[in-house]
Amino acid sequence: MENSVINHLPTDFTTNRLHVFDDALKASDYVARQIAALIRRRQLEGREVVLGLATGSTPKGVYEELVRMHRYDGLSFENVITFNLDEYYPIEPHDEQSYTWFMNQYLFSHVNINPHNIHIPHVTGPENHVKNYCDEYENKIIAKGGIDLQLLGIGRNGHIGFNEPGSCFDSVTRLINLHPVTRNDAQVYFGGIENVPKQAVSIGMSTISQARNILLLALGPAKSEIIKQAIDGPITPDVPASILQSLPQAQYIFDKNAAALL
Ligand code: PGA
Repeated sequence: MENSVINHLPTDFTTNRLHVFDDALKASDYVARQIAALIRRRQLEGREVVLGLATGSTPKGVYEELVRMHRYDGLSFENVITFNLDEYYPIEPHDEQSYTWFMNQYLFSHVNINPHNIHIPHVTGPENHVKNYCDEYENKIIAKGGIDLQLLGIGRNGHIGFNEPGSCFDSVTRLINLHPVTRNDAQVYFGGIENVPKQAVSIGMSTISQARNILLLALGPAKSEIIKQAIDGPITPDVPASILQSLPQAQYIFDKNAAALL
């Protein structure tokens, strides 16, 4: 059940853009339904749909529900094109910490998506090669007509994708240095901070801002402080997710723990 008892925010925020649910399951199901509805609408129109996808613990429930819809509700992914937000650098795609592995594990290997339609910003080789790769990734998104729906999580430091604090709002896909908070939060997956890559490739703040729909999903009490800053605080590169305040196509979907300080 959606909970609308958040009083001090402007009405358009509470009625249109902010959705708070009792628990993570309900919030995740809401996001999955938005994605499925767009996929199906495009199918009826005979069109493809371009999804921007996220990794991490937050979207797992969304992917679980999409897989369930594929298995039991006839949701087809034949018309779906995906671009993932980010990937560590360097990393091997078969490493269990890689986002290639993650996406196969939680979504792609369970649905009928055409492998040619999947894009994850994985690159190897020296940094000068990476720059060309990033430009090509950005150009591929543009060539597909841009992102129709971008799913986002949020880091405890306010990052979206791996756009760490200080990321310019006009940034595009590029190699970035990971913030200490990000590397610290990732160490459980890598078996120690010394194993966490120091860099990553991420689509940019500008790339994200141009998506036609944006869904920011945040779950759990560990996100409540940064959610307060991102929604109630100033719009600033110091809190990259704060840019969503200025984007009318962005919706916030929280469980009540993530929304506790609003
Ligand atoms: P999490 O990460 O879903 O694992 O909390 C979110 C993010 O860093 O964007």
